[in-house]
Amino acid sequence: MELDTLITKHLTRYFDPNKKIPEETIQLLLRYLRSSPTTVNIQPNHFHVLESQAGKDKLADALVGRFADNAEKVRNASHAIVFTTRKTIPDKHLQEIFAKERADGRFADPEIQKGWEAGASNFVEIQSENYGGDVLHWLEKNTYLVVGATMMAAASLGVDATPLEGFDRATIDEAFDLTDTDFTTTLLVMLGYPDETRVSRQPVSRFDAEKIFTHM
Ligand SMILES: Cc1cc2nc3c(=O)[nH]c(=O)nc-3n(C[C@H](O)[C@H](O)[C@H](O)COP(=O)(O)O)c2cc1C
Repeated sequence: MELDTLITKHLTRYFDPNKKIPEETIQLLLRYLRSSPTTVNIQPNHFHVLESQAGKDKLADALVGRFADNAEKVRNASHAIVFTTRKTIPDKHLQEIFAKERADGRFADPEIQKGWEAGASNFVEIQSENYGGDVLHWLEKNTYLVVGATMMAAASLGVDATPLEGFDRATIDEAFDLTDTDFTTTLLVMLGYPDETRVSRQPVSRFDAEKIFTHM
């Protein structure tokens, strides 16, 4: 999709339930998702990819009360992804990252890898201090970046992606058996194609450039 088109496009709220994302397209998008960069390669996410109607219904059923209007969006999307984030970074997780980096040959020189590992571990401590011990707050910023990148990647494949913040974290965590695990729900992303009969024809409304840009 051209950037010009994206600039004047509303996020899709009504998906066409009859249109499914081709398997090779979704696989490419997931490959991209897996490749998303994160601070010091911390990779704090686990993604629940809901492709069956049963999977999407499980999520939709957990959107209740004041979030009930999001349920239809989930049911009609082609796919939905539950973006979850680690609540803490135990040493075991760091060691897993480092072992994978070594196996993948991230650095040609093992000494550089060693230095990187010390630096990355130290950076996790620094961020923990910066956020007053609230590591999840820091890690969820990474998750939002991954979501933003995924939205653009989806657009490049002609797929609409709509993030949903309207949900109760505890309810979704419970539905996906995340309560008392290392992960918690951060954001939901619906993927698919718009119901053309319900696309808004109104202009997109944003602040004027003069208000939001300072050029120097
Ligand atoms: C992080 C994020 C979370 C959002 N959550 C919801 C949501 O839960 N439900 C919904 O209908 N729209 C949601 N939206 C859509 C926004 O409300 C919408 O993009 C914004 O009002 C601008 O409208 P427009 O895209 O039509 O220009 C979300 C958008 C973003 C970026």
